[in-house]
Amino acid sequence: MEFGFSEEQLMIQDVARRIAQEKIAPSAEHHDRTGEFPLENIRVLGENGLMGIEVPEEYGGAGMDPVAYVLAMVEIAAGDAAHSTIMSVNNSLFCNGILTHGTEQQKQTYVRAIAEGAEIGAFALTEPQSGSDATAMRCRALKQADGSYVINGKKSWITSGPVAKYIVLFAMTEPDKGARGITAFLVDTTREGFGRGKTEPKLGIRASATCEIEFNDYVARAEDVLGQEGEGFKIAMGVLDAGRIGIASQAVGIARAAYEATLAYVKERKAFGQPIGTFQMTQAKIADMKCKLDASLLLTLRAAWLKGQGKKFSAEAAIAKLTASEAAMWIAHQAVQIHAGMGYSKEMPIERYFRDAKITEIYEGTSEIQRLVIARSETGLR
Ligand code: CAA
Ligand code: FAD
Repeated sequence: MEFGFSEEQLMIQDVARRIAQEKIAPSAEHHDRTGEFPLENIRVLGENGLMGIEVPEEYGGAGMDPVAYVLAMVEIAAGDAAHSTIMSVNNSLFCNGILTHGTEQQKQTYVRAIAEGAEIGAFALTEPQSGSDATAMRCRALKQADGSYVINGKKSWITSGPVAKYIVLFAMTEPDKGARGITAFLVDTTREGFGRGKTEPKLGIRASATCEIEFNDYVARAEDVLGQEGEGFKIAMGVLDAGRIGIASQAVGIARAAYEATLAYVKERKAFGQPIGTFQMTQAKIADMKCKLDASLLLTLRAAWLKGQGKKFSAEAAIAKLTASEAAMWIAHQAVQIHAGMGYSKEMPIERYFRDAKITEIYEGTSEIQRLVIARSETGLR
C-alpha cells in the first residue's frame, strides 16, 4: 500500500493551491455577494490545465489521473466552492462522458474547447418533475427519417446553463423502454431551438450560474448522438460515478477551509481568561472535525485510486460523496458554533462555508440516493 503522491500529482496540487489562494479566495466574497460568474478566474484555471485534468493532452487537457483531480479540486474548493462547481462540471460531467463514449470527431470538437477553459460545458439530466428519479424524464428526442432528432422539453437546475457553449443532454428516444429508451446528445447552444431561463438565486455556490434550459424543435444531427441510441442512462450513471468523486473532493475542500479557520480561531479567541481552544468541549469538537475531514479525504482518494486503476468504483464513489458531504455540513456547522457571533457574521467566510457545504448533500445524487446506491451494492437487493 502506497500513501505518497507522485511528483506530478503534487505539482498540480501546488498549481491549484497557488491559484486558489492568490486569485480565487480573495474574490470569493465578491462573487458570493454579487453572484457574478467568475469568467476571468475560470480562464486562468483553463490555462493552467485545471479544466481538463484527466483529459489527454492531445485533446487539450493535462493528461493526469483521478488522484491528481481530487487534489486539485480540494484546493480550488477550499478557495471558493462555486469555482469548484464550475470546474467539476467541465472536468467530470462534460469531458468524461465524451472521452469514454465519444467519436474522435466529437472529442476534437467538444472536449478541447472545454478542457482548455475557452468555453464552458454543462450536463443536463434533471427536469422539473424528475431529479432523483432520473428515468422519469419527459424531454423527447423524436427520430426523423434522415437520422436526425427533433428535441422538445425542459431541463432544470443546469449548472453553467446560463453560460455554457456545449451541453451533454439526456432525452427520451423510446419512452416505452424506460431507462433503456434514453439517449445522450451533444448540444451546441448557439443553434436554433435552444433557450435559457432566468439564473436561479441560491443559498450557496452563488457564483456558479444555474438555470432551466428549454428545447423547442432543436434539431440534433445523427453525429450529435453520444454513444449508441438507448445507452444514455448508462452513460449518465457512469459519468455520475466519476462526478461524485469530484463533489466529494469539493466537500473536503469546503470542510478543510472551515476547519483551518477554526483551528486558528480557537488559539486566538479568549474567554474566561484563556484561549477557547483550551476548553475540553472545544477540543472534542476539533478532534471530531479532524477525524471526519481525514476520513473524507481518504475515502475520496480511495475512489479516485480505484478509478485510476481501471477497477470498479461506483459504490466507493457514493461512499466518498456521502461521507464527505455530510462531514462538510457537520464541520461547517461546528465552525459556525465555535466562531459564534463571528461565525454568523458576513465579515468572515465561515457562514459562506456553511451555506456552500449544503449543496454537496443534494446535487449529483442526494445523500438518500448515495445510501441507496451503497446499500444496493452491499446487499444485492433492490
Ligand atoms: N453505471 C452504469 N450503469 C448503471 C449504473 C452505473 N453506475 N447504475 C445503474 N446503471 C444501469 C443499470 O444496470 C440498469 O441497466 P439495465 O436496464 O441494463 O438493467 C439501468 O442503469 C437502470 O438502473 P436502475 O434500475 O438501478 O435505475 P433506477 O431508476 O433505480 O435509478 C439511481 C438508480 C441510482 C437512483 C439513479 O437514478 C440516480 O443516480 N439518481 C440520481 C440522479 C443524479 O445523481 N442526478 C445528478 C444530476 S447532475 C448534477 O447534479 C450536477 C451538478 O450538480 C453539478
Ligand atoms: P427529488 O428527487 O424530488 O427528492 C426530494 C427528496 O426525496 C430528497 O430528499 C430525496 O433524497 C428524497 N428521495 C427521492 N427519491 C428517494 C428514494 N428512492 N429513497 C429515499 N429518498 C428519496 N442536475 C443536472 O442534471 N445538471 C446540473 O448541472 C445540476 N446542477 C445542479 C445545481 C444545483 C445548485 C442544484 C440545487 C441542483 C442541480 N442539479 C443538476 C439537480 C440535482 O441533481 C437534483 O436537485 C438532485 O438530484 C435531487 O433532485 P430533486 O431536487 O428533484 O429532488
